[in-house]
Amino acid sequence: MFYIGIDLGTSATKLLLVDAQGTILNTVSREYAVSYPHPGWSEQDPADWWAAVLGGVPELLKGFDAAASKIRGIGVGGQMHGLVALDTAGAVLRPCILWNDGRTQKQVEYLNGVIGKDKLSAYTANIAFAGFTAPKLLWLKENEPENFARLAHVLLPKDYINYKLTGAFCCDYSDASGMLLLDVAHKRWSKEMLDICGLNEAWLPTLYESWQPVGTLLPDVAAALGLPADVLVCAGAGDNAAAAVGCGVVGAGGCNISLGTSGTVFITSDKFGVDKANALHSFAHADGGWHLMGCILSAASCNKWWLEEILSTDDYDAALGAIDPDKLGQNDVYYLPYLMGERSPHNDPAARGAFLGLRMDTTRAEMTQAVLEGVAFAFKDCVEIAKAQGIDIPSSRVCGGGARSALWRQILADVLGIPLELPQTEQGPGYGAAMLAMVGCGAYPDVNACAKALTHVKSVTEPDPARVKTYEARYQTWHKLYPALKGVLA
Ligand code: XUL
Repeated sequence: MFYIGIDLGTSATKLLLVDAQGTILNTVSREYAVSYPHPGWSEQDPADWWAAVLGGVPELLKGFDAAASKIRGIGVGGQMHGLVALDTAGAVLRPCILWNDGRTQKQVEYLNGVIGKDKLSAYTANIAFAGFTAPKLLWLKENEPENFARLAHVLLPKDYINYKLTGAFCCDYSDASGMLLLDVAHKRWSKEMLDICGLNEAWLPTLYESWQPVGTLLPDVAAALGLPADVLVCAGAGDNAAAAVGCGVVGAGGCNISLGTSGTVFITSDKFGVDKANALHSFAHADGGWHLMGCILSAASCNKWWLEEILSTDDYDAALGAIDPDKLGQNDVYYLPYLMGERSPHNDPAARGAFLGLRMDTTRAEMTQAVLEGVAFAFKDCVEIAKAQGIDIPSSRVCGGGARSALWRQILADVLGIPLELPQTEQGPGYGAAMLAMVGCGAYPDVNACAKALTHVKSVTEPDPARVKTYEARYQTWHKLYPALKGVLA
């Protein structure tokens, strides 16, 4: 039997064809653009995601005719928090407002300041951050009343794909956690939050565990994709929860670091818990448990911006190869990665990126190194918050496009002072989504059993004790830069 895992990312949708033993038979990636209609805003057209799936599945199956008829299930993991607003006919009302969009500062201040963080945390286990879905709905009400008046369905990005595949309005608990509308502890919509935001519960999707089937393919969709109509679609997960599953980070006490467009530190637990300062998100996990998560908005996207937009090169190997390995931990240039503002730990959409410490003899390679180091320091900010809560992170898995670079993994291991384990399969969210589909179709009894059978560590990057010390000193300097600059540019 075969399964399709889909990772609905911000830069591309990646599709995987996987057998029940976890072997990846084929992969397809379809890229699309992000639009930035105002500084700090980011949007995408859900039609682009659907086109990527409609075109990507037949491409994935090309040459695998025997597999196509034996496909049992599809799972989707997707970029979290995005507001997909639909009318009564299921048509998209406006472009999706993405997870790294910073337009809702006023609504966030209202929710955290006027309603109050204590109440939000009691109702949802979280406070408001600019990228979360509830502040975006308040923004829509205030700024586009004509669209708000026509609102009939609120979906997250991957749930829009599930809707197009099956016709069902559904969401899983991991992704729903990031809307600031879910009572995460009790896994139900929060009536208090719906009242505060003036929302109708009928607009929200039906909730499921990530592995649970939500329906089968609509007949015309099955025909267009070249698949049998009885293929089951499972609820899927937010991309970070799906990536954790795909990296084998399930059950209690695990950590997964995702070095993708965003950067996340994902700490698993079998018990519900809230970080006292609400600096980390308290969300449901796709294995039925929970997790705490810190999210930096610009991670591998910083390197992409620096190389492609500023240095006009797509030769990543050459650019990173120019960094002198003997100079790791010795760089006098510092970089703040806040190109889209910052979520964890600053909760500041107005934060901006910066290079500091430049001299006449500063080289391009030192600036490239500073970008990799600045992102690693931002991860350390998240890890330090977790440590302050008494959470021990002795090691972590690592995934995402940036983790393919051995150099960046080494810098991150040295900055964090912990070993980083690279999984055999680097396709985190897509692989995890396929695994959820396997569980939904009964190939494995639960997500933990599936992860035990299918996920393995390929290599471990150990921290270098001398560099751990030099990077600790650099981090202490770096850590002073954001407070020193706060408010200067906004
Ligand atoms: C997590 C978050 C990002 C997106 C990226 O809270 O906003 O990691 O899910 O796709």
